[in-house]
Amino acid sequence: MPAAADRINDLTDRLNELNRLYYQEAVSAVSDAEFDALLAELQQLESLHPESVRPDSPTQHVGGSITKEFPAVSHRYPMLSLSNTYSETEVREWAETVAKALPEQDIAFVCEQKFDGISLSVQYENGQLVRGVTRGDGTRGDDITANVRTLRTLPHRLSAQHHLPAFFEVRGEGFMPFVSFRRLNAELEAAGREPLMNPRNAAAGTFKLQDSAEVARRRLDVYVYSFLSDEDIFSSHAEALTALTAAGFNVSPTWQRCTSIDAVLAYLHHWETERHTLPLATDGVVVKVDSFAQQQELGYTAKSPRWAMAYKYRAEAAETVLESISFQVGRTGAVTPVANLKKVLLAGTMVKRASLHNANEIERLGLRLGDVVRVEKGGEIIPKIVEVMADQRTGSERPIVFPEKCPECQTPLVRNESEAQHYCPNEATCPPQVRGRLEHFISRRAMNLESLGEGKIALLYDRGLVLSPADFYDLQPQDLLGLEKVFTDEATGKTRRVSFQQKTVNNILAAIETSKGVPFERVLFALGIRMVGETVARTLARHFRSMEALAAADAETLQQVPEIGPRIAASLAEWFESPENQQLVSRLQAAGLQFSTHVADAEAPQSDALSGKTFLYTGTFANFEREALEALIEAHGGTVVSGVSKKLTYLIVGQKPGSSKLDKALKFGVQQLSEDEFLSLLPSFSENKNQLNV
Ligand code: IVH
Repeated sequence: MPAAADRINDLTDRLNELNRLYYQEAVSAVSDAEFDALLAELQQLESLHPESVRPDSPTQHVGGSITKEFPAVSHRYPMLSLSNTYSETEVREWAETVAKALPEQDIAFVCEQKFDGISLSVQYENGQLVRGVTRGDGTRGDDITANVRTLRTLPHRLSAQHHLPAFFEVRGEGFMPFVSFRRLNAELEAAGREPLMNPRNAAAGTFKLQDSAEVARRRLDVYVYSFLSDEDIFSSHAEALTALTAAGFNVSPTWQRCTSIDAVLAYLHHWETERHTLPLATDGVVVKVDSFAQQQELGYTAKSPRWAMAYKYRAEAAETVLESISFQVGRTGAVTPVANLKKVLLAGTMVKRASLHNANEIERLGLRLGDVVRVEKGGEIIPKIVEVMADQRTGSERPIVFPEKCPECQTPLVRNESEAQHYCPNEATCPPQVRGRLEHFISRRAMNLESLGEGKIALLYDRGLVLSPADFYDLQPQDLLGLEKVFTDEATGKTRRVSFQQKTVNNILAAIETSKGVPFERVLFALGIRMVGETVARTLARHFRSMEALAAADAETLQQVPEIGPRIAASLAEWFESPENQQLVSRLQAAGLQFSTHVADAEAPQSDALSGKTFLYTGTFANFEREALEALIEAHGGTVVSGVSKKLTYLIVGQKPGSSKLDKALKFGVQQLSEDEFLSLLPSFSENKNQLNV
């Protein structure tokens, strides 16, 4: 029965894609319930049509290869947790208990930030970083060494001059700095994907990615806060922190040694507001007894040390009234409900908006217009509604009706089966979608026309001067000179004047001219095709080498390119089919933009010895860091992929390889290469293996 087979096919693709997003990119594109419903439907159909079950069906490896694949290892020293409190009085009481247990002794404390990420244990042997492990259940954690090695601020090798023991361990908090978080979310959104909730979730998901090249790209970081060893080389925590800093570890400079409880409380007060200036999320302060001898005397309970206490700041919350809901249309056409609140002071700023994500969130909260709601600002950057105060209802609250038409262009909205988000399908003329595309086109990583900034784009769009990216290249000085508009920032109420003076006009026109030299792969990214982020654009540009060849490829041809799946292929094919897009492409070509990959491009391959071949590696290598290995593969026309599949050409096996990749490679019959065998594939290395110069 072809209908059932087709549905089985579709469900398999969809569920595999959802699993990939969830496990490799930490994105929940649908709710658990929706996922389960799709999986149940697939199971039912497969039981009726066993001949149509695909070997890669998610029903065939539940809890197996698609879930966690890091080996579990035991901690040499258990990873405990901290007692915590929200009350200053309890911090004082804890300090009194400590004083009672250490009669007649001077007691000093070290105060540190409580960083909001995931705790890591990193081991060194003879000056070399040998292992990185997650906390896990405190006794056993996941060995994520490959990912920990991507942290640029963590020394891989220590020089002997620091006199650290042959074996020691540091503990610290792995985190995603706000800048990396914002950049990652902008990229996910540019590729039409769901943004991540907060930096903590983003860090937790990223540390568990299988593809350490992707982990490296996401720019995680670590703050080290403990030193553990069998040798007693330091007498206090402050001494250890100072030595770790000197040895090149990233210790946050925010720590302070305090010799009285009043000084501790002053630290808590100071950082309660000052923490908002830090480059990462924190949720409190950790107070530790400084002297290691005193720490030993105080000892541990079953779960936590008696010598430390975490003081947590309350997630800042406030109650206010939901006055109305606006439905905002984003660059990708996704419609997001935004709550308009009665103004309220929260975490030092006036809040009058909160994000509601999608229709499911409104339903989950049981929200009605006029409700009293609790808003919180935690790790998230935008406040959110966490609760409806149902007991404060008066009966005058009204239900929220999700619009059927786009609030910007009146086109009927669509909601794809099993997706939480509503979309406006009018990509061509819906104003925020058009403006968003223009903003993406000019962004730094695309055409780099940032002298045109957001306000200026809005002005050019409002005046009808730029409605399509191609219009930038028709702009004349007289179109721009003297244009002016005053904008009011809705959030702050402040006004801003945008005007085009001679100098601005010259700068803009010069930048537009310069952008004609931007390489093809960035031009392709700049077009803002759904699911074509920077990496996909690069892959496509290298494979097809010209816009003409890419536009001519049908979905089937596109899918033969490594890393291009059915959804990306369909999105591309659909984009190039549209007459508006065809016109855009020919106007941009006429304007003189780069529409092909030149051999002279800086990133052009050194050879095409590996062209058409896909690579994955596991373990560590004598001659390369992983990033260099990847660069080498790409420079010779090969493609690095993120997981083992039947289509993979080679698995390069280094020292201490991961067993799951090896097992899968065996299962799929993928050819394995040693480091030397790999090098012999490259013209320069096979000629003279001794001249390693990468
Ligand atoms: S010391 C015995 N110091 O908080 C535990 N932990 O609730 C010693 N954390 O799992 C931990 N910042 O991930 C310590 N400055 C800091 C910290 C910190 C964040 C985390 C850590 C730990 C959790 C305990």
